[in-house]
Parts: sequence; structure tokens; C-alpha cells
Amino acid sequence: MTMNSKLMVGNWKMNGSLAANASLLSEISSGLRETSCRVAVCVPALYLAQAQNLLAGSLVAWGAQDVSTHESGAYTGEVSANMLRDFAVRYAIVGHSERRQYHGETDDVVATKAQRALAAGITPIVCVGESLAEREAGQTEAVVKRQLAAVIHANGHCISEIVVAYEPVWAIGTGLTASPEQAQSVHAVLRAQLQAATAQADRVSILYGGSMNAANAASLLAQPDVDGGLIGGASLKAPDFLSMLKAASR
Ligand code: 13P
Repeated sequence: MTMNSKLMVGNWKMNGSLAANASLLSEISSGLRETSCRVAVCVPALYLAQAQNLLAGSLVAWGAQDVSTHESGAYTGEVSANMLRDFAVRYAIVGHSERRQYHGETDDVVATKAQRALAAGITPIVCVGESLAEREAGQTEAVVKRQLAAVIHANGHCISEIVVAYEPVWAIGTGLTASPEQAQSVHAVLRAQLQAATAQADRVSILYGGSMNAANAASLLAQPDVDGGLIGGASLKAPDFLSMLKAASR
């Protein structure tokens, strides 16, 4: 269990437009009165300036969905941690399974990305999670521990500054959610691993992600080691996202 309030993060993935973002953010902002959890939206990099404009002074933080492993230089198409900092980004997702799967990101790459973010004063949201085949082979625990170990190894001295997101790959965008018990059991493993690495493991929020929605959020968030959510599809619909924020505010 973390000592912080719950943290609910929308991962917009590659969705949105200037017009759609403006109305989504204004709907979210105007529904926040009944919520007390921490909230953020991780938007496509091109829309960070818009998010900063529309959210400055609001309770909603903004974040990026990725960050380069490099500091600067001849890396066409990449966005550096310092560039993100220019737009007052609070969070950067690193190691999302879609990046691991479609862009070949290894555990080492993810660990370096976390390092770049931390060095720029940005909180990395480190994603870990097993595939269906790995779960069926009984490898869930070994896979998530290996993924988190790489990040701990590279960032030992400031590991209490990260956020972890457990996102079982088989639950992402599929409508299949981990049961609250399945989520809690993996979160407890991750918590123990953090406790072995730092005396401040209770500062680390461990989020659940994978088909979290307005109907299942409360039961997942009721688990002792589920400190919040990383929400894809349901974060694009203001009423659903707001209802999940309310569930996280109890
Ligand atoms: P969905 O909520 O759409 O399943 O996506 C989860 C996710 O990948 C968040 O990062």
C-alpha cells in the first residue's frame, strides 16, 4: 500500500485531435469537483503544448507516452526528456507493451528511458506485464520481476521516485481484465521487489492497466496494493474517466 492518494492516468495512445482534446479536457476539468485522487493524461507528444495551455493551474497533470534513450543529437524523430521538461511534463510512460512489441524495446532500453526521465525531473511510469502465453506457462512472476529488475538496477538510488504500472498484455484493449485477485497478487510481488531495493517502497504507486473501465475500477482499486490505474480506451470518454476518478477518490 502506498501512503499517497490514488493516481489515475489516462493513456490516450495515438488518439485525438486539437478539437477533440479541447473538449475532452474541458469535460474532465469541469467534473473534478467530486474527486480527490491524483489525475494525469499522457497525450501524444505533439499535443503537449495544448495540454500545458489548457491544464496549467488545474488539478490534472500531463505526461508523455515515451521518451528517447538519448540526451540530444542525430536521432531523427525522437523526443528527449529535456524537451518534455520544456512543456512542464510531470510523467512519461516508459516500456509500454506496445513499445516493447512494435518498436523492439528491450528491458535495457526501458531502464535507460526511465533514467533519462528521472534525470530531467520527470516521473517515469514504468510498464511491466506478461503475455497470455507467458501467463499460461506460469511465468508471470518471473517476467514482471525481470522487467522491473532492469529498471531498479539502472536507477537504484532514486527508485522510490518511479511509478510502476502492471499491464498484463492479454488485458490491454481486449475487454479482458485481470481479476482483482490476479492484479493484487502481481502487485504484491512488485511491492516486495521494490521493498528489497529501497526503504521507501511505500512511496511508489503501483498502477493497474488493461481494460480498466467504469464498471470494474472500484473492485480493482479496493485491492491493498493497487494504487491507481493506467487507462487506455476508457480515458477517452469523459463520463467514464470521471466515474473512475470518483471510484479512486473513496
Ligand atoms: P486499455 O485500457 O484500452 O485496455 O489500455 C490499457 C493500456 O494499455 C494503458 O496504458
